[in-house]
Amino acid sequence: MGRLLIVSNRVQAARLEDGSGNQGGLSVALSAALRESGGIWFGWSGDIAEHFSGGMHFEKENGITTVTVDLEARDVEEYYSGYANCTLWPLFHYRLDLARYDRMFANGYERVNERFAQTLVPLIEEGDLVWVNDYHLIPLGDQIRRLGRSNRLGFFLHIPWPPMRLLLSLPSHRQLVELLLAYDVVGFQAEDWLESFHDYLRVQLGLEKDEKNQIAWNGRTIQLVVCPVGLDSEDFKTIVRSGAAKAAYHSMVQSRADRSMIIGVDRLDHSKGVKERFCAFERLLATYPRLHEQLFLLQISPIARDDLGHYREIRSELEALSGRINGAYASPHWVPIRYVNQSYDRATLAGMYRAARVGLVTPLRDGMNIVAKEYVAAQDPDNPGVLVLSRFAGAAAQLDEALLVNPYSSEEVSEACLQALSMSKSERLRRWRLLNDVIEAQDTSWWWRTFIGFLDDAPESPLVRS
Ligand code: G6P
Repeated sequence: MGRLLIVSNRVQAARLEDGSGNQGGLSVALSAALRESGGIWFGWSGDIAEHFSGGMHFEKENGITTVTVDLEARDVEEYYSGYANCTLWPLFHYRLDLARYDRMFANGYERVNERFAQTLVPLIEEGDLVWVNDYHLIPLGDQIRRLGRSNRLGFFLHIPWPPMRLLLSLPSHRQLVELLLAYDVVGFQAEDWLESFHDYLRVQLGLEKDEKNQIAWNGRTIQLVVCPVGLDSEDFKTIVRSGAAKAAYHSMVQSRADRSMIIGVDRLDHSKGVKERFCAFERLLATYPRLHEQLFLLQISPIARDDLGHYREIRSELEALSGRINGAYASPHWVPIRYVNQSYDRATLAGMYRAARVGLVTPLRDGMNIVAKEYVAAQDPDNPGVLVLSRFAGAAAQLDEALLVNPYSSEEVSEACLQALSMSKSERLRRWRLLNDVIEAQDTSWWWRTFIGFLDDAPESPLVRS
């Protein structure tokens, strides 16, 4: 196997036992790949320069070499906040109502991808495998080809791919899809997303995949792959057994007293369905007064992308909603929703997951959802809690022994919570063992090895331009 060059917008070499809370599944998973294979991780430094210079920062951190570049304020506004997070993110999460189409955003997206390609290309050696991650960087592969590199290029999308009819609302939809065809391997988190991509190819471009999920295009073959991101299961279990996790568990058990705790942990994002979750929890309280004072919901939602309007809106909606529900149901000794905007390290989260009878993971749409896997992995194997999981998370395809729900239906979600709270121990054990087996078998290392395996098998691309 050649050297691995990983590219992603954010470069965040993840430590094992540390975690800022911002350290999402992506950084953990990619760190694990690089730690084992060697190579370089390339992306944005997170810093802003007055003018883009292409100057690179080389660092070695936690056994991983990172190379980063600074961007201009205008780049960040148009490429990251604009096209990536105001256009593609809402559209790819099926939220046409929130998606903004702006020519400036599209230009900025193209410009930054070009800048990344120009900086990265001199670092690419013959035989290197280049693995580009996520929606910020779809055009990068095409840019690398334009600069004359024939290395094998892979792209993995960590978020959903939208249905064809939604994608048609993007002014440059065809261009975006064709850019993806510059890669040799294109990976998705779940079958549903690959199928949506294939629908587009079939209907709009007249391309059919064969039985190996390969597409023939301009004299090249593009391999489509479903490859769900896994949990760094062994490392996470070490975290679960750590003193810090145990301390967090004990303090949570003390604070919950003999009440049952339901936990939700999500970045504050409209795709996570936290508003709908609060409403479902309210319905549970309204329908079953006997549960009052017996349980509570701990919702941990670190604030994200707060400079964008629709993120500030969801934040104030959640503040109002949790306040209203607590006002209506709380007593002097009990608050039904503990709503927390702080972020916690993985050890503290592991302890809190373990203290919760129910893990409530109900995104309206999600590429994968690693919290669902962490909740399961953190449980006490002798007395596990129950995962209630949205059917619309990529994770649902693997975790079908969870209680699967439609997150838009407060009736379904509240009834699943009740079922989880009253589930017998034998049934909890049965479900947990099956879930845990999948999580351990299809872990982070399985994920990147599978993806890189496909990339390694792909032939080098002839330099033909469409
Ligand atoms: C989530 C998604 C990732 C994405 C990341 C970007 O974690 O699952 O696919 O790359 O958000 O987050 P950021 O904070 O960099 O906007």
